[in-house]
Amino acid sequence: MDKNIHPIFDRLLQRQDRETRLNQKSKVLWLTGLSGSGKSTIAQGVERALYNKGFFAQVLDGDNIRSGINNNLGFTIEDRQENIRRIAEVAKLYLHSGVITLNSFISPTKEIRDYARQTIGADDFIEIYINAPLEVCEQRDVKGLYKKARKGEIKGFTGIDSPYEAPENPALEIRTNELSLEDSVERICDFILPLITLKN
Ligand code: ADX
Repeated sequence: MDKNIHPIFDRLLQRQDRETRLNQKSKVLWLTGLSGSGKSTIAQGVERALYNKGFFAQVLDGDNIRSGINNNLGFTIEDRQENIRRIAEVAKLYLHSGVITLNSFISPTKEIRDYARQTIGADDFIEIYINAPLEVCEQRDVKGLYKKARKGEIKGFTGIDSPYEAPENPALEIRTNELSLEDSVERICDFILPLITLKN
């Protein structure tokens, strides 16, 4: 190739350059669990805690993904697969720009999560199981959706008439019916800090 084509660049910027600028190692934290298990609340807590420690992180969840880029998708297994496929691609872009992402999606099947892991790369994909028993999620029913699902007003609701396969080997499991929000956030931070801290 003609070396004068890009005379002002000696080389393209790499992920490592961006990580150095942000003074962190980027990772994808993948929170999976039932609706109402506490994923998004915990993700927001971790995002805030990391911010306070000087890290640069971003939550991806239903609020910013299903209402925007994925607003044409529903909850069939095919649509959930497409939902997660796009999210994994977006998380990968963030990863290579040096940013830590906290992905908060039910991601109900092993196949869907394996797909995300493969897209992102196993070394950068940290699976965190936000575990609360179905009865507890249903009792919380923060959005009133379990009630509707039980009445048949919503079809194919995860845990009711659509499957949720718990991860067999998550990097971390957080039992939200046993831990406070603060303790859940702290556990995740303790686990990821060594992985996102850039050693000089
Ligand atoms: S996923 O299965 O494709 O990963 P996602 O996390 O994006 O799901 O969205 C789940 C949220 O959508 C739930 O917390 C709930 O508020 C809402 N929702 C609406 N319909 C359903 C349904 N049939 N099953 C599960 N969640 C639903």
